[in-house]
Amino acid sequence: MNKIKDSVQQVKAFAPATCANIAVGFDILGFAFDKLGDYVTLKKRDDQKIVIESIISEETLPFTTQQNTASLVIEKLCQELSLDIGFSIVIEKGIPLCSGMGGSAASAVAALVAFNHFLKEPLSLHELARFALMGEQQASGAAHPDNIVPCLFGGFTLTYSQNPMKVIQLPIPKLYCVLLHPHMHVSTRSARDVLKSEIALKDYVKQSAHLASFIAALYEQDDNLLSQALVDDLIEPQRAQFVPNFYKIKEAALQAGALGMSFSGSGPALFAFAKTEQAAQAIGQAMQKPLQEKQIESNYWVAPISKNAAHVVFEGE
Ligand code: HSE
Repeated sequence: MNKIKDSVQQVKAFAPATCANIAVGFDILGFAFDKLGDYVTLKKRDDQKIVIESIISEETLPFTTQQNTASLVIEKLCQELSLDIGFSIVIEKGIPLCSGMGGSAASAVAALVAFNHFLKEPLSLHELARFALMGEQQASGAAHPDNIVPCLFGGFTLTYSQNPMKVIQLPIPKLYCVLLHPHMHVSTRSARDVLKSEIALKDYVKQSAHLASFIAALYEQDDNLLSQALVDDLIEPQRAQFVPNFYKIKEAALQAGALGMSFSGSGPALFAFAKTEQAAQAIGQAMQKPLQEKQIESNYWVAPISKNAAHVVFEGE
């Protein structure tokens, strides 16, 4: 049976940026931030090739299909479903490279969501997540789910099992997020390479308490508890070296009223939570100053956490 719809010739999908870890949930927590994201368009071809037609990006990205997460996941999917089909792929990068805002996940997810629209019987989000993980494995050397899951599901997510994939959609706090991008590159691979592979029992106990109280704060809608819980004693100290003046930035954010601040994913992007949009703007500006002292430019976005998951924006016949 032909699994592909005859009527659809091209599909364009959007996938949001994501903030992973959120200080307390290394490799398991994440949320979607749709002020920025990637677009991927898939166009049916007459042959069975997967070809990257163009990449619209301020930075140079690989055109080889195995090195780009969007094309890689489509190749894997076509192989696994034994589909005799080819696509030309257009990638529009809205998420800066090596920024810690889930760029590799967004390209893979946008491609998968577009692809799913060609199928007569679409795959579930859990199935799509399995393929997106292959992209993360390629991009960072580790199949961490905490960017692709919030990207696919939207909102605030906890991935509590990877095989099989099991996801909880957590309550979304009524807060504004500041996502600050220092203009520098840190690859997830190198930010993972510095991490110790073992932790002391006493550190495990402390960090478990932070994670548990953070989750409780989400369900209780308790901003004070959320603020107290938002502490990373495990990963953040090992990665602080990647952003000059990291602790000054953190202090500036907290002084300006942030409920907490840490790395977005593996950094160098940083997130902070604020109670109001006005406070979030002030926090963003305060966080930029210690970077300016080190001659590092930056920009930031302010938005609530997004309920919106990756989605199709255009379908052409
Ligand atoms: N959990 C991953 C890490 C996220 O911190 O390495 C990468 O964006």
